[in-house]
Amino acid sequence: SIPEYVKIVEVGPRDGLQNEKDIVPTGVKVELIKMLASSGLPVVEATSFVSPKWVPQLADAKDVMEAIRDFKGARFPVLTPNLKGFEAAIAAGAKEVAVFASASEGFSKSNINCSIEDSLVRYHEVALSACKLSIPVRGSWQFVFWFALTAVGNLKPYIQRISCFDIRTQFITPNIRYISSIVSIREGQYSRLMHFTIGIRRATFLATSRVLNQNACYISCVVGCPVEGMVSPSKVAYVAKKLCDMGCYEISLGDTIGVGTPGTVIPMLEAVIDVVPIEKLAVHFHDTYGQALSNILASLQMGISTVDSSVSGLGGCPYAKGASGNVATEDVVYMLSGLGVKTNVDLQKIMLAGNFIRKHLGHSSGSKTAIALSKI
Ligand code: HMG
Ligand code: MG
Repeated sequence: SIPEYVKIVEVGPRDGLQNEKDIVPTGVKVELIKMLASSGLPVVEATSFVSPKWVPQLADAKDVMEAIRDFKGARFPVLTPNLKGFEAAIAAGAKEVAVFASASEGFSKSNINCSIEDSLVRYHEVALSACKLSIPVRGSWQFVFWFALTAVGNLKPYIQRISCFDIRTQFITPNIRYISSIVSIREGQYSRLMHFTIGIRRATFLATSRVLNQNACYISCVVGCPVEGMVSPSKVAYVAKKLCDMGCYEISLGDTIGVGTPGTVIPMLEAVIDVVPIEKLAVHFHDTYGQALSNILASLQMGISTVDSSVSGLGGCPYAKGASGNVATEDVVYMLSGLGVKTNVDLQKIMLAGNFIRKHLGHSSGSKTAIALSKI
């Protein structure tokens, strides 16, 4: 059986545009993100806070993030390869970040210039920082806040499971005697917002926490690597477990160069599912050999319910020569709709977004569905 609902994570503005020869103007990126978010996609990966020397196409990450930070309707995670990127992302208004490791040493080196182990250390720092940054307040205030938390008896069972949150202090009146806060409580896969108010003598602030979603992560080259060839399922499972233990709420398994078939994808997924809860897993396929939809179907049949895709099949990876685009969002939506799986995505609107960006880039659509429907 396959899931009744599939969450589609749109990666076109990041994974797609990072690979374009010509640099797309910021305004076009922002308009694309807006069109994608308004087509019902729950998550639109917006950009990457990476080195502009490595990926000049996304050197305007700060401007893009600042322009979309208040858009409603979708979440806008961004890629961060290290603390520097994480801090810049948060300063620009990102509420969710994704780190990206590799299951192959060769690709880790060429993509992020370090070994897998070193990248895991870096990402651990990012994960810790995500939690620390969530309390960007002075010591005394921090103390009051924690006092408030521990004082609420019925919250105690949850305290261990509180995920990252970020308190914004706001001066209301000198005499307000309570703290009001929204805390994100981790419950399984989801973060639940809980609002509570507590009376505290002499407290003079109203603190409203803004939830910082925990970081998600990618693992590249989960079946094959442009440098090393085949990648063993146990290597993928090892990296996935490490990232899961760090607190990543979602782990996207990427066939970066699109060489996988259900024959290699299924054993890889079996190895990962053995060590990471399946509801934390997403799949990210590139369509180099035309295998992406078959691989997605095989993943759904194994119980995975989060799928990455890219509008109009934009994309590739600048550090994986020969990788063609990601699977097209239009094709994924068409297949899921045929299977009776809910996505809440409006195919016509996605196609408009696809036309918009393709016109700008001057090449034709990478989506078979978009091409077929545009002829009708
Ligand atoms: P490095 O050269 O080893 O970094 O790059 P460094 O720490 O030695 O610093 C060198 C310079 O970069 C310094 O500047 C730093 O300040 C700067 P300088 O002093 O020379 O002027 N720097 C930064 N600048 C901006 N933002 C930052 C940052 N960090 C350092 N965050 C680094 C290491 C990781 C930064 C680099 O290798 C990099 O940016 N790599 C990104 C590569 C990338 O974006 N690849 C594509 C995404 S992954 C992908 O597409 C696969 C995926 O889609 C899954 C799939 O398809 O399967 C996720
Ligand atoms: Mg990709």
